[in-house]
Amino acid sequence: MKYDFTFYNPTRIHFGKDAMQKLPEELAAYGKNVMLLYGKGAIKRIGLYDEVVKVLTECGKNIVECGGIKPNPSYSQVLEGARLVRENDVDLILAVGGGSVVDCAKAISVAAYVEGDAWQKYWVDFEPFSGRVVPVASILTMVGTGSEMNGGSVITNEDVMIKEGRVFPPEVYPKFSILNPEFTYSVPHIQMVSGIFDIISHLCEQYFSGDDDNVSDYLIEADLKAVIRNARIANKDPQNYEARSNIMWASTVALNRITGLSKTQDWEVHGIEHQLGAYTDCPHGLGLAVISLPYYRYIYRYGLHQFVRFAKNVWEVDPVGKTDEEIALAGIDAMEAFIEEMGMPKTLRELGATEEMLPLIANSVEEGGGYHTVTHAEILEILKACF
Ligand code: NZQ
Ligand code: ZN
Repeated sequence: MKYDFTFYNPTRIHFGKDAMQKLPEELAAYGKNVMLLYGKGAIKRIGLYDEVVKVLTECGKNIVECGGIKPNPSYSQVLEGARLVRENDVDLILAVGGGSVVDCAKAISVAAYVEGDAWQKYWVDFEPFSGRVVPVASILTMVGTGSEMNGGSVITNEDVMIKEGRVFPPEVYPKFSILNPEFTYSVPHIQMVSGIFDIISHLCEQYFSGDDDNVSDYLIEADLKAVIRNARIANKDPQNYEARSNIMWASTVALNRITGLSKTQDWEVHGIEHQLGAYTDCPHGLGLAVISLPYYRYIYRYGLHQFVRFAKNVWEVDPVGKTDEEIALAGIDAMEAFIEEMGMPKTLRELGATEEMLPLIANSVEEGGGYHTVTHAEILEILKACF
């Protein structure tokens, strides 16, 4: 373990079919005013909205409703939520939904009592977080982001066409998260596979950097294998509890910091995807899947040893008779075959991008990387390769 670290994750996880039974005892720790934050309506269709309202009412809470949070949540929605928090003296923000709703809850939490403009302060200037936090908790209905157990909050500012992620410190993490895999059964297939690739991408982006013998790399390989195996089962049988529950927990583990400890990391695929999302509003994980293939086919030569390891340990590529380069490329080919098997798109065009957008996207991404730092010109070539 080359680099020192401090690890602390305060989120209490209640996992399983009966996890909702823990909600009343969790709610008891907070005051009367609970903001119920949710998306465009999925939780109403699956009956979860009624279930949550019933528990909140039985626990004597005043419900402050804030629905309609859009996928890839916008800063204007954050400001609206922050206003409601102040006006109603909210004691707890309960996010019920996918990563977008949970991310938005954290953003509302830090924006409610901020001095100055939260966007400028936290998503542009990246000032260290300080100030009052309104506690956040989540009931997760869509798997992939890991937002239920981390400080991430990815917000789109539509005025400036920037989608930016900020990682807040542990006081902003959800205080508790309820993870019932059955709540994810109703997620449409395309969103399910989007979430699955989001997990894979989080793991890859922590993996493809560094050259030491790091425990995190072994954990990542194991988590990737669990995701791939269970994704194949869920792809054919979406109501398979074992598969959906394994994917759900694999997702939480993939981005609660544990798999990235003591590692340099390469978040360039996410950086590019976020700007793709700012321009197209596409599902996050699908954007990652499209970008990953040309990105890794471009940078593998700079970190060949790790791409060889990835091919052998994750995709079980047979190395016999192959050069290292051939093994590495066979690993990326195996990832491409998996993307096809899951029915994910492989071009930016399918995600709503136009040719005119490509330079705008490329130039608005920060240049960065792990084994190799990609420039704006190289990012543009990567985008063209998957257009
Ligand atoms: O809006 P509703 O009605 O809730 O519908 C949602 C939405 O249309 C639907 N859905 C969710 N649960 C459902 C369901 N439909 C039926 N049944 C259910 N049980 O799925 C759609 C997508 O939901 P969303 O929350 O947008 O998806 P996801 O969880 O992938 O979140 C994506 C956002 O998280 C950010 C992404 O950039 C994106 O903005 N990320 C957050 C991260 C973090 N906090 O650490 C890291 C990630 O890398 C990511 O960037
Ligand atoms: Zn992601």
